Amino acid sequence: MTEISQFRFPTDIRFGVGARSVLAEFGRKYKLRQPLLVTDSGLPQTEAFRLVVKEADRVWPGRCVQFTGVHANPTDQDVEDAWRAYVQGGCDGVIGLGGGSALDAARALRLKVAFPNTALLDMPFNELPPLVPMCAIPTTAGTGSEVGRSSVITIRKIGRKAVFGAQPMMAEMAVLDPELTVGLPPNLTAWTGMDAMTHAIEAFVCPVFHPMCDAIALEAIHMVRLYLPRAYADGNDLEARGMMQVAAAMGAVAFQKDLGAAHSLSHPLSSEFGIQHGLANAICLVPVMKYNKEVSAAQYARIAQCFGINTFGMSDTEAADKAVEAVVELNGRIGIPSSLAELGIKESQLPMLAKKAFEDPCHTANPRPCTEKDLLMLYREACKQ
Ligand SMILES: [Fe+2]
Repeated sequence: MTEISQFRFPTDIRFGVGARSVLAEFGRKYKLRQPLLVTDSGLPQTEAFRLVVKEADRVWPGRCVQFTGVHANPTDQDVEDAWRAYVQGGCDGVIGLGGGSALDAARALRLKVAFPNTALLDMPFNELPPLVPMCAIPTTAGTGSEVGRSSVITIRKIGRKAVFGAQPMMAEMAVLDPELTVGLPPNLTAWTGMDAMTHAIEAFVCPVFHPMCDAIALEAIHMVRLYLPRAYADGNDLEARGMMQVAAAMGAVAFQKDLGAAHSLSHPLSSEFGIQHGLANAICLVPVMKYNKEVSAAQYARIAQCFGINTFGMSDTEAADKAVEAVVELNGRIGIPSSLAELGIKESQLPMLAKKAFEDPCHTANPRPCTEKDLLMLYREACKQ
C-alpha cells in the first residue's frame, strides 16, 4: 500500500421527524438575516414545501426569499436566475430544497455568489474560498445529493451537462426530515430508492481502497432492502421513510469511491428518452451484476448477506447468484419493470445508447472493464430480461 488515501465524512447531518426545525440553529450559527430558498417549479404545490416555508417564516419572518425556477435538468441559466434573486433579495445564505436538481443548482449558485463575473466551468475549483452557508433539505430519498460536493449543470454554450465539484461546495448542514418525503408517490419512492441501492452496490464493488465507505455501503444495502418495500407499500410509514433517507445519504457518502457501469448505462436512457434515473439504474443493475460476477463474486457474496441470505456453505459464485436474484426480486416487489423493452426501448436504439454510455465516465470505475461492445451487450440483456 504505497498510495495515500483520503477519507472524509464532513457533513453535519440532522435526522428525525420534524428535523426541519434546525433551520433556527442554522440561522443562528451563520448569523443569517435573509436566506434564499432554492427549489424547482414542481415543489411549491407540495406539502413538503409548505412545511419548510412555514418553518423558514418562523425563523426569518417575511425575510426568507424564494426562488422556485430550477428545471428538472438545471442549466447555467437557472443558476444565473437564482443568483439574480439572491442579489436582489440582499440574501446571505442558501437553503436548497427538493431533489437532486434543486440541490445541485443551490450548490452552484454559491459559486456564482463568490465569483459573479466568472462562468461556472471557469471557477477556481482548486482554490475556492469558503462559500456562503448552505442548508440542504432533500424531499426524495435516493440521490443523496445533500451530502454531495458536486453539481450537474447543463451549460448552454457547450450544449451538454457538466459535472463539477470541490470540497467547499458541500452543504454546511443536511436536514433529513422523514415528513418531507411522505408525499412521494409509490413509483417515485421505488425508483429513487433503487438509485440509492445502485449507489451502494456500485460503490461497494468498485475497486478503490476505502474500507470506511465499504462498511457504509453494506449497511445502506441492508437498509434499502428492509425499508424500501415498506415505504413503497405505505408512504406514511415514517420509520421506513426516515431509514430510506439515511440509506440514501449513506449511498451517496459511499460513492465518493466511485460508481460503475449501471450508471453509465442509465445516464443516456435519461438524457435521450427521459427515463427516470433510478428506474433506469434499477433495470440496468441486474445485467451489470451478472457481468461483474466473474471478477466481483466475493463482494457480491457479502451483498447477498446484506439481503438476509444465509450464504453458509455456498461458493462465492453461488452466493453472488443469490445477490442478483435478490435484486430481481426486490425490483419485482416494488413494481419495477424487468426490462427496458417494457419502457419502450427498441433494439435499433441500443447502438446509439451504447456509444453514449461508453462516453460516460462512470464505467471506468467498474470492477470489470467495459468496451462499447460490452455496454451494447449489457443493454441487450437489460432489454430482454
Ligand atoms: Fe445515481
